Amino acid sequence: MKSVILDVDTGIDDSMAIAYAVHSPELNVLGITTVFGNITVEEATRNTLVVLDQLERPLSVYPGEAKPLERDYTKPFARHIHGEDGIGNQYREPSTRQPQSLSGPEFIVQQIMANPGEITVIAVGPLTNIARALQLEPQIAEHIDRLIVMGGAVTVPGNVTPFAEANTYSDPDAAAIVFSSGMPVTLVGLDVTMQTLLTSAHLEQWRSLNTSLATFLANMTDFYMEAYKGVITSGRGCALHDPLAVGVAIDPTFVRTESYAVHVECVDADSLGKTTGVHDSQASHIDVALDVDADRFVHHFLSHIV
Ligand code: BDR
Ligand code: CA
Repeated sequence: MKSVILDVDTGIDDSMAIAYAVHSPELNVLGITTVFGNITVEEATRNTLVVLDQLERPLSVYPGEAKPLERDYTKPFARHIHGEDGIGNQYREPSTRQPQSLSGPEFIVQQIMANPGEITVIAVGPLTNIARALQLEPQIAEHIDRLIVMGGAVTVPGNVTPFAEANTYSDPDAAAIVFSSGMPVTLVGLDVTMQTLLTSAHLEQWRSLNTSLATFLANMTDFYMEAYKGVITSGRGCALHDPLAVGVAIDPTFVRTESYAVHVECVDADSLGKTTGVHDSQASHIDVALDVDADRFVHHFLSHIV
């Protein structure tokens, strides 16, 4: 069983990723750290607690960074994609549980340093918490087992600008720090996540289960699919961005990777957050996912999510 920390900006596909991870016997989720991104960090923390209530899993939640590491906020929140509340307007009332007082970056450092070589971090929001953790304790780069990132677009266009994917655009400086840290990274970007689609037929399967969890997830995903109209032209559906990062932690063979050094654009305003892969045998510690066995992954996801 792999010990993982999830780093999330919950978020509809983040919620699916949490449910998938918690329901997968291959993973032992040690705790969840939150970050700004799709919504504020306070909302991400609140939503994460609500999702865990639905899952009936009282995991600890550690609030992280509220804004990018080194600059004023550049990207508006993604309420048009994830709903006013970040979870497709399914928020009803706060959890009875409270977040932890330890911060997200402190929790990441504590766990990695106490368990060298044992911890995988799955980061599916801006990389601000991971960069902050590296600033607190640079040795985590050597002691982490692996960082799996949903972020970037190395061989395909971006989704918030023609060049940049939302998570790297939200904090390009943090992504640059993480990608140059020497930490072993698997980059699960739009190159592969745009090929892993959930359809409305899948949603109806969840709905027919008629459980509180299945209805909660189906309702929020319905909102997400509405937002994806125009992005996915093959029919009603949505991309499984964040769940694929969890899938890669469970079974790395869901994707085919190649090693690159990855540059993140932090200066040019037009291409801010753009990720460029450079073949470099000396600095190739980033495995960039270039192909995905989408059918096998989606099948696995569907058999664990609800
Ligand atoms: C990423 O951006 C967010 O909106 C999603 O939750 C996902 O992490 C996709 O670009
Ligand atoms: Ca996310």
